[in-house]
Amino acid sequence: MAEWTTFPGDFYWGAATAAYQIEGGWNEDGKGESTWDRFAHDPSHIKQGKNGDVTCDHYHRWKEDVQIMKDLGLKAYRFSVSWPRVLPAGRRAVNPAGIDFYSRLVDELLAAGITPFTTLNHWDLPQTLQDEGGWQVRSTAEAFVDYAAVVTHALGDRIKNWITHNEPSVQAYCGHAFGEHAPGLKNMAGALRTAHHLLLSHGLAVPVIRANSAGARVGIALNLNFGQPASASRADYDAWRSSSGPWTRWFTDPLYGFHYPADLVAEMAQKGFLPGEGLSEFVLPGDLDLIATPTDFLGVNYYTRQIARSTSLPESQNLPAVNVASDDRQEMQGWEYYPDGLQHVLSWLHYAYRVPEIYITENGASYSDAPNAQGLVHDARRVRFLQGHLAACRRAIDSGIPLKGYFCWSLLDNFEWGEGYTQRFGLVYVDYDTQRRYLKDSALWYRQVIARNGFEI
Ligand code: FCB
Repeated sequence: MAEWTTFPGDFYWGAATAAYQIEGGWNEDGKGESTWDRFAHDPSHIKQGKNGDVTCDHYHRWKEDVQIMKDLGLKAYRFSVSWPRVLPAGRRAVNPAGIDFYSRLVDELLAAGITPFTTLNHWDLPQTLQDEGGWQVRSTAEAFVDYAAVVTHALGDRIKNWITHNEPSVQAYCGHAFGEHAPGLKNMAGALRTAHHLLLSHGLAVPVIRANSAGARVGIALNLNFGQPASASRADYDAWRSSSGPWTRWFTDPLYGFHYPADLVAEMAQKGFLPGEGLSEFVLPGDLDLIATPTDFLGVNYYTRQIARSTSLPESQNLPAVNVASDDRQEMQGWEYYPDGLQHVLSWLHYAYRVPEIYITENGASYSDAPNAQGLVHDARRVRFLQGHLAACRRAIDSGIPLKGYFCWSLLDNFEWGEGYTQRFGLVYVDYDTQRRYLKDSALWYRQVIARNGFEI
C-alpha cells in the first residue's frame, strides 16, 4: 500500500539558480567583468571550450522564467545577484541598470506569489577585485560588506531572505587550490586565506543586511555532502577526518562558535598549508567572534555520499570495507545516489550545532534526458532522485529537525561551471540553440508535490 507523505503547511517548495549559470548578458548594460567571465573566456578551462556569455539568456528571458516558476507553483525561488552587474568595478559606482534588473525580477516574483531567497555571492567576483588579490586579501571582505549594503539597501524592502555566500568551501578549494574554478589558482595556503575572508565577510555582512532589510532572515549556504569512512579502522577514520573535515567542520565549527578545528589546523600546518605563524597570519583577534555572529538559518547543499578509504595502509592490512558506494550514480562526476546521507547530514547539524533553522538550498541530479518528438522529457531517474531525497527530508522533519524548505537544483539546465553544458540539472530542459524551455517530467511531478504538499511513496 502506498503511503502518503505530507509536509508542514508553511514548507517552502523552491528551485535554485545562480547568476553566472543562467543570466548571460555578460557585458550588457554596464555590467563589469567577473572572475568567471575571465576564467571561462579561456577555452582551455571549460569542457568543450564553452562559457557563460549567453547560457540560458535569463537576463532577457526572466519574465518567461518567472512564468514557468508560477506555472510550477513554486513558493520560493533562490537566485544570486551578480556583484559586477551591480558594482562593475567591485566597489563605489553603482550600475543602476544592474539594480533595476533584480528589482524588476523581484517585483515579478512577488506578484506571482513566489518568495525570493537571494544569494549575494555565488562565485562571480568582480575581476577588478581579483586584480587586487581577490578573496585572498582582507580588503575583499570589506568590499563584500559594502556590496551587501548596496544590494540590501535597494532590495531589502522586498527581499527578506538573504544568503551571504554559496559554498565557500568550493569557492576556496576549487578556485584557489585545485585551479578548476575561477580564478584558477593552485595554492592551498591561498585557499585557506580565501575561506577565512569569505567567512569573515559573512559575519561582517549579517548586521548590515539586517539593518537594511527590516525583519530579514540571514544565512549562508554550505556544501555538505555525507562523508563516511569505508570501515571502522583507524586508517579509514583518519582518511575520513582529513578528506571530509576541510569541506565540513572547517566551516561549520567557526560559524557556530567553535574555533577552526584543532585537529585540522595541526594537519594543515604539518602539510605546509599554513605559514610559520599559523592561522594568526590572517585570522586577526576578534575575527572568530564576527564569524560566529548568530544567523537565522543554514542552507545545506547536498548531492551525494563520499566514502573515505585509506591509501596509506595496504588493503590487506585494513579492515574490509563495509561502506561501499553503489553503482547507482548520476551523470555528474559519478555522484552516488544516496538519499540517506541527507538525513545524516541534517541530524549532524542539528545535534552538533543546534542550527536554528535549515533549508535545503540545493539538491538535484544531472541526467541528460532530452525532449522526444512530442517535446516530452521523460526523466524518470530525476523523479526518483527527488522522491528519495524528499522522503529523507520528511524523515528528518519527523525526527524534530527544523527543516523549513527545499530548493531543487536547478530550475533550468544551465552552465555547470568547469563542466560547461555537459551536465543538465534542470527541472526544465533548455535547448541552447533556440532557447526554448521544455518542462521535464520531473517538473510536472514536482508541480503535483507542491500542489498537494506531499507525495506518495
Ligand atoms: C553546487 C553549486 C551549484 C551547482 C551544483 C551542481 O556546488 O553551488 O552552482 O553547480 O553544485
